[in-house]
Amino acid sequence: MRLSDCHNFHDFRELARRRLPGPIFDYIDGAADDEITHRRNSASFERCDLIPNVLRGVETVDLSATVMGQKLALPVYCSPTALQRLFHHQGERAVAAAAAKYGTMFGVSSLGTVSLEELRRTYATPQVYQFYFHKDRGLNRAMLERAKAAGVEVLMLTVDSITGGNRERDLRTGFTIPFQLTPGGMLQFAIKPRWNWNYLMHEKFKLPQLEQHVDMSGGTLSIGRYFTEMLDPSLNWKDVEDMIRFWNGPFCLKGVLSAADARRAAEIGCTGIIVSNHGGRQLDGCRTAFDQLAEVVDAVGDRVDVMMDSGVQRGTHVLKALSLGAKAVGLGRFYLFPLAAAGQAGVDRALGLMRAEIERGMKLMGCTSISRLTRENVRFR
Ligand code: FNR
Ligand code: LAC
Repeated sequence: MRLSDCHNFHDFRELARRRLPGPIFDYIDGAADDEITHRRNSASFERCDLIPNVLRGVETVDLSATVMGQKLALPVYCSPTALQRLFHHQGERAVAAAAAKYGTMFGVSSLGTVSLEELRRTYATPQVYQFYFHKDRGLNRAMLERAKAAGVEVLMLTVDSITGGNRERDLRTGFTIPFQLTPGGMLQFAIKPRWNWNYLMHEKFKLPQLEQHVDMSGGTLSIGRYFTEMLDPSLNWKDVEDMIRFWNGPFCLKGVLSAADARRAAEIGCTGIIVSNHGGRQLDGCRTAFDQLAEVVDAVGDRVDVMMDSGVQRGTHVLKALSLGAKAVGLGRFYLFPLAAAGQAGVDRALGLMRAEIERGMKLMGCTSISRLTRENVRFR
């Protein structure tokens, strides 16, 4: 199987599965508890049908979108994800380059493996910095100042990860940083020599967003422990209000599901909110982002830019979300599997396929610009 054999999400996932050591594949692919929410995320789009209009003259369609003051050539963006250089040695550089090529926005995680400064300098397209709120308030301020000084456009505070999700696949394999592999996990690395070679031949693994501030050297710090020990579970609306004032620029909350929270976010001055369940990786059994989208748009869509992510695998998923009132849609595993499969060429191909699917879908819907998609274009079963 080669990159040119990949025509959709499932193909990229399969190629990534063949190329990655099992524990890394499972970290990306896996979710919390019984992974019920994760499975429902994509399935939720199937309960909603598109209703096209015909004979509308669709020789050219405009796919551009504006969110939080950022002009994007596509209504999708690359949501921030952790540890990208573990998935492919090009990591965030590949994702940022592909996002820039397609004129869209990319996110850099607090747990990113390339510095936010390097990415801001190198790729001329809107950049989001995804922030986790630490117990140490001084540290939080220093990190915000650093992102501001680098010229990052948008701050995104993730609020659905106040504690680590229960990722049982990772417990089984021992996926931690540095690796504390179980014997089974070790074996799975041993049988992927190409990945090992690439990993060893490239720049040493690090977490540049955190390294000035957090001692990651003293033993094992698992993702779960980072959440549980370093992050501040007392985080509340007042803290966010202070943060918005301090940042003084486009600011969004990622991981809002209830209309009440969305209203509160609007009241304290958020520019955007992302309706998301973190790809099913946090609270299993929670409602899907797509199912909650209309309610949140109805509550605050006239005041803040509402976006969504979790489970998006197709251009038609994007069209459904836009019809319900999302301003743009975030991609996670949709670009991570291509990254793992083939680096920048993989992410390029995935975004190219997504653009083609959205454009084709718009033509078949009889729509010449994304703002013309409305609730009239969808019905739930
Ligand atoms: C994530 N996500 C995430 N979110 C965030 O705010 N900070 C982070 O560091 C990460 N890291 C991360 C790693 C991996 C491997 C995955 C799969 C996801 C969540 C991500 O931004 C997004 O919300 C989900 O991926 C969306 O779901 P789909 O598109 O993957 O189904
Ligand atoms: C995850 C964290 C890092 O989903 O957000 O793995």
